Amino acid sequence: MTRILAIESSCDETAVAITEDGKLLANVVATQISVHEKYGGVMPEIASRLHAENITVCLTEALRQAKCKLEDIDAFAVTRGPGLIGCLHVGLQAAKTLAMLYKKPLIPVHHLAGHIYANQYVGEFKYPMLCVVVSGGNTELVIMKGELDFEIIGETLDDAVGECYDKVARVLGLPYPGGLPIDQHAKLGQPVYPIHRPKMPHDTYNFSYSGIKTQVINMVNTMKMKGEVVNIDDMACSFQRVAVGMITDRAMRAAKNYGVKQIVLAGGVSANSYLRDQMQKKVKGTSIELIIPPLWCTTDNAAMIAKVAEKLYVRKVFAPLTLGVDPNWRLDEWDKFE
Ligand code: KG4
Repeated sequence: MTRILAIESSCDETAVAITEDGKLLANVVATQISVHEKYGGVMPEIASRLHAENITVCLTEALRQAKCKLEDIDAFAVTRGPGLIGCLHVGLQAAKTLAMLYKKPLIPVHHLAGHIYANQYVGEFKYPMLCVVVSGGNTELVIMKGELDFEIIGETLDDAVGECYDKVARVLGLPYPGGLPIDQHAKLGQPVYPIHRPKMPHDTYNFSYSGIKTQVINMVNTMKMKGEVVNIDDMACSFQRVAVGMITDRAMRAAKNYGVKQIVLAGGVSANSYLRDQMQKKVKGTSIELIIPPLWCTTDNAAMIAKVAEKLYVRKVFAPLTLGVDPNWRLDEWDKFE
């Protein structure tokens, strides 16, 4: 029997999960959204302080849910990156302290590997597989040909799609995080505003969101200056068609070119209803299977970190207690750490 305790603190959620032979015994998430809301985005300094305040409470609650003690844990896993440096530090220090005190292995986990492996709570992976990783900090298309075998075939050249949703929401006066409000308003609107995709090579798998963001911000500000009323539903819909269209087109082209058996959606933006609908429509009638994560594992949590840690435990991928965080850790370098 193997019990793993995993910690996630890369952005604005402090999370602790405990698994026993793959079964989730505890999954605690303390979100800071209500604090960052008033700033319209995550304030890194405040986020790290809150992680420091919340981590012990989350650990205690996870142990209570799992009905076990720290002595019963076989390994301590933690998100080492990517993420906000100060935030990552809090989780890492906690995991290192526990690993040292209880003389158990320390397992360094890549945050995006976590988002991808969250889907294993839904179904088994079939390779080759395409992962559509869309979150507040990352936008990547990843091909997996086997367990923990990640090849990044496309990524954003500037902003992440989630960040773009949040900035567009802000200019429209919608609350933070902006993904869900935009998703909801878009359902009520029509794509009447001329928002264009960036001009990029037709065969690229890369993304670019800063131009789309600037188009919306400029259009809204110009309309306001002229005293025109911005229809929020229509603007959200016009923006979302373009933002999501770029993801679905590239994903389907990659899926066909790489002959994938499965596509999995991962990350906060995979909660988007239009993205989910569009992907379902596009795989219909093909042999490609689509895994859509349940909403609870689209946002940051430690259950997904524990899922990756289970694989790393079997492979004995353990880190020394001198381990440092890496805010820019690349997914294809998940086994390179120090
Ligand atoms: O995965 P996540 O928690 O962040 C990172 O780990 O980077 O994702 C948060 C992002 C935010 O930008 C939020 O606006 C977006 O996911 N999001 C959505 C939706 N729900 C959350 N974006 C579009 N549609 C949604 N329904």
